[in-house]
Amino acid sequence: MFSLAMSDSNSQERFSVSRRSFLKSFGASAAAAATAQVEAVAKELEKANAEKVYGPDPVPITLQVNGKPLKLEVEPRVTLLEALRNHSNLTGSKEVCDRGTCGACTVLVDDTPVYSCSKLAIEAQGQKITTIEGLARNGKLSPVQQAFIEQDALMCGFCTPGFVMSVTALLRKNPHPTADQVRHACSGNLCRCGTYPRVLQAALKGAGVAATTKTEVISYAKLA
Ligand code: FES
Ligand code: FES
Repeated sequence: MFSLAMSDSNSQERFSVSRRSFLKSFGASAAAAATAQVEAVAKELEKANAEKVYGPDPVPITLQVNGKPLKLEVEPRVTLLEALRNHSNLTGSKEVCDRGTCGACTVLVDDTPVYSCSKLAIEAQGQKITTIEGLARNGKLSPVQQAFIEQDALMCGFCTPGFVMSVTALLRKNPHPTADQVRHACSGNLCRCGTYPRVLQAALKGAGVAATTKTEVISYAKLA
């Protein structure tokens, strides 16, 4: 038995609490809390079960790619990159690491550069997807594509579509970027051949910005 300190004996009697009654009331509130939690979890489960489950078999999806609907039947686990390359004929986006580290698979999703190897095709529905194949107009390369050719900004060329997409996304938002802004925009793209200085020159040329100094070009190569 323990009691709360009170000034007179009557009050002491009134407010004294036995260990047993304390534990009983504590147990009752804990049980009530646990019941509430169980009910909340049950409600969440009910909600989750009510949501439609897709797969594992192929499901029909429609992507908006380069301004046209692309209807496919793919398993829900299929990435956007795989859907483009292996389930249609859009092989411009390259698969290199397939784990979101190199940028070779970069496409634009609603004008934002995205690693297509790290996004499920099914979740790209309803979004505007642009691949390297969608940049040329009436057989004419985009200014960025043209600049990459003129500046010889590629060696093996495997990373090039990804760089072109990152630079294109930058110029759509910022038509006259600085060398630093180009560097930042391409920071998610790796070039194993080391053509970074030429990529920088091509990006600036594509933007119609005066070619950068040799020092800036060299420092870009060092930072990359
Ligand atoms: S293939 Fe997607 S980031 Fe490397
Ligand atoms: S040109 Fe070969 S990886 Fe970039």
